[in-house]
Amino acid sequence: MLAAIASAAVVGIDAYHVLVEVDVAAGLPQWTIVGLPAGAVKESRERVSAALTNSGFQVPPRRVTINLAPADTRKDGTAFDLPIALGLLVATGQLRNGSTDSLVALGELGLDGSLRSVRGVLPVARLLARGSPTPTLVVAPANVPEAALVSSLRLGAAPTLATLVDGIRREDIPRPAASCERPVENAEGIDMADVAGQPLAKRALEIAAAGGHAVLMVGPPGAGKTMLARRLPTILPALGEAEALEVVAIHSVAGLVPPGEPPTGRRPFRAPHHTLSAAALIGGGSGPRPGEVSLAHHGVLFLDELQEMPRHVLDALRQPLEEGRVVIARAARSVNFPARFTLVGAMNPCPCGRAGSADRGACTCSALDVARHQSRISGPLADRIDMTVRVPAVPLHTLADATRAEPSTAIRQRVEMARARQELRYRSFALVTCNAHVHGRWLDAHGGLDAGARDLLASAAGRLRLSARGYHRVLKVARTIADLDGDATILRPHVAEALHFRTDSSGGHA
Ligand SMILES: Nc1ncnc2c1ncn2[C@@H]1O[C@H](COP(=O)(O)OP(=O)(O)O)[C@@H](O)[C@H]1O
Ligand SMILES: [Mg+2]
Repeated sequence: MLAAIASAAVVGIDAYHVLVEVDVAAGLPQWTIVGLPAGAVKESRERVSAALTNSGFQVPPRRVTINLAPADTRKDGTAFDLPIALGLLVATGQLRNGSTDSLVALGELGLDGSLRSVRGVLPVARLLARGSPTPTLVVAPANVPEAALVSSLRLGAAPTLATLVDGIRREDIPRPAASCERPVENAEGIDMADVAGQPLAKRALEIAAAGGHAVLMVGPPGAGKTMLARRLPTILPALGEAEALEVVAIHSVAGLVPPGEPPTGRRPFRAPHHTLSAAALIGGGSGPRPGEVSLAHHGVLFLDELQEMPRHVLDALRQPLEEGRVVIARAARSVNFPARFTLVGAMNPCPCGRAGSADRGACTCSALDVARHQSRISGPLADRIDMTVRVPAVPLHTLADATRAEPSTAIRQRVEMARARQELRYRSFALVTCNAHVHGRWLDAHGGLDAGARDLLASAAGRLRLSARGYHRVLKVARTIADLDGDATILRPHVAEALHFRTDSSGGHA
């Protein structure tokens, strides 16, 4: 007998329908899965058999053929356990009353018959909500908070296969409490005000947040670079609902949404180690899975010890920084992941880390060592970074100073105003929402550079031998500083401040 249960799978962060067909026929006991099943799908036999037996059902000694349609896309993961089990029950006549027609089932089975959460539930929920009539999505209770983000969808959830089958028979599938929780912004309790001193670094981060600029912090160990970077998300504008869903979808596909908890609406902060591979940075593997640049989408990607990253890994940053996405080429089809993040790099000023810091004893590096170290932020790095800021160690008396610094909410207000001005300016552009992403030449012609500012920029460009890219980077940063000031025109002081943060091949300052 033949049965078919609707399910779904994910490519990139987009879901598609999968029909799980189960045929049970006379013949030698055998179990075949077709439709390009990958490892975890092939192993579903063991989980499903044990789950059925331990839930009080029969696993008939017959020939079982399972087809995952469409048969030409590769299927991975454990989410087909549940539809396979339901299909077997229907095909063997153990689930007769009650219909499975309007269900879409997605879930892993434990050997004891319990229903477990899987990756990629939010993309599936969004797909189903677009269809009509909308089916009931049946998932494990631990996936409910994520699925419930799509409030228009009917949900079913049961802790075990047996309770679910019982619900289907009675035509009364347990409906989870309609929490429909929106992603919440449950702050981690960190704030820019936690950082004592460092006015220049805070100013650089405010500009970076306002204009979407990549920023590099150069300073000795313990200066507070990591502390500052971690607080950058707290001064970025709050995530919109659509953006928050996009973030959750990416993290869901990566298996990073904690089961049973409402996903947060916070901007992500990702801080991968400098030894990560290019594939871990931009995404890949079977699936493929999103990389760090996509996990940082709408948030912050913090790369510590930036100078230690191999050139080919740094080069992999080019596409996401320029296009706000990554395309992962696959034999069958290429997969797109969004990757629009604010890049923050950090590095020591020299190999020992003490160059230029008064309190910490003399730097032991030779002049050559220091030069070589600093030259590592030239070339591929300088090309990707709009601003560089020195972060000196904070003197003890500043750390002990109890006066509270400006809180993140106050800085965020200025950032939001500057962002609003940019959105207005770029409203007719398809992909540009902030200064970091606009063409330098467009900004030169239409950015509102006044004559005095243009003079200063031109003379600095000559004196500092800025490349065209370097010139445009300073211009973009100056535009953001003017936006923070609420000025339609870029004035001399805006350019002067931008020059102070410039990144160039010497890594130094004017
Ligand atoms: N400006 C500062 N204000 C408050 N605490 C600081 C400051 N700078 C450093 N610290 C303290 O020193 C620790 C180390 O700072 P960290 O951010 O890890 O430095 P870095 O990344 O530059 O090596 C922090 O966790 C914090 O406790
Ligand atoms: Mg650090």
